[in-house]
Amino acid sequence: MQRTVLERVEQVAEGAVLLVLRGAEGPLAPWEPGAHVDLALPNWLTRQYSLCGNPADRDSYRVAVRHDRLSRGGSEYVHLFLRTGRTLDVSVPRNNFPLLPAPEYLFLAGGIGITPILPMLAAAVEAGASATLVYVGRSVATMPFAGELRAVHGDRVRVHATEEYGRPDFATLAAGLDPRALVYCCGPTPMLDAAEAVFPARRLHIERFRPTVKEFPPARPFDVHCVRSGHTIRVGAEESMLDALHHAGYQIPSGCREGVCGSCEIAVVDGEPEHRDDIGAPPGRMYCCVSRALSSRLTIEL
Ligand code: FES
Repeated sequence: MQRTVLERVEQVAEGAVLLVLRGAEGPLAPWEPGAHVDLALPNWLTRQYSLCGNPADRDSYRVAVRHDRLSRGGSEYVHLFLRTGRTLDVSVPRNNFPLLPAPEYLFLAGGIGITPILPMLAAAVEAGASATLVYVGRSVATMPFAGELRAVHGDRVRVHATEEYGRPDFATLAAGLDPRALVYCCGPTPMLDAAEAVFPARRLHIERFRPTVKEFPPARPFDVHCVRSGHTIRVGAEESMLDALHHAGYQIPSGCREGVCGSCEIAVVDGEPEHRDDIGAPPGRMYCCVSRALSSRLTIEL
């Protein structure tokens, strides 16, 4: 964790604030567009927020937080209680949504989903690529950074208020796209679903805040062998592997506990994981908050 001080809290749209977190112990860890951090809140909750500032700024991180009406305590705390001057621990950035090289990009952002897209759009433009952002929200007043984006990027940015224009037509956007273009989409689930229905999977990159609904066979118990300590831990059918490891005394970082943030990633040495996350674990890795085992035993790097 990195120690920061909350330097600024600024309202950037109806129900959305920008937090500027200044490193308290020297330069902060570097990051690439699309990355997010875990923010440890003083009410003992940890929440994930995409970095929306400039990666060249190593002195501070910027995140934006929407006050979620269904808040489980994270965004509500930020909006009601968090004040400047507070010391906050922030994880090293992780990137599950990296910007891959392409000659053309289409960015689709819904509401607070604009946050990872902000530095991605800037990076794409800086790299000389052709880039278009379709930024969707209920009304302009509810859309963070809409004015700033239009001022900086002009016609590249199309701000689409659904109250006025209804939902954007992704099929028309897809029809006009260069075949080499990549599409990056971050926003609410219906928007991600609409993008998945239209854009080919090989070109579409999605960042989810919420897990998708998936069907799995009933969970079965399995053993986890920790190769470094030599301990073997039984994971019951009713508990997650993360909880079993915590109960056994292992400090595994965790954030969302829903398979969308990546903070609980562990290395698998042997055995066959059953991946239940929404990130797509790289070979030899798994997210132990939701993923389980197809084999009766997993050996992990712990
Ligand atoms: S805690 Fe977020 S993916 Fe496991």
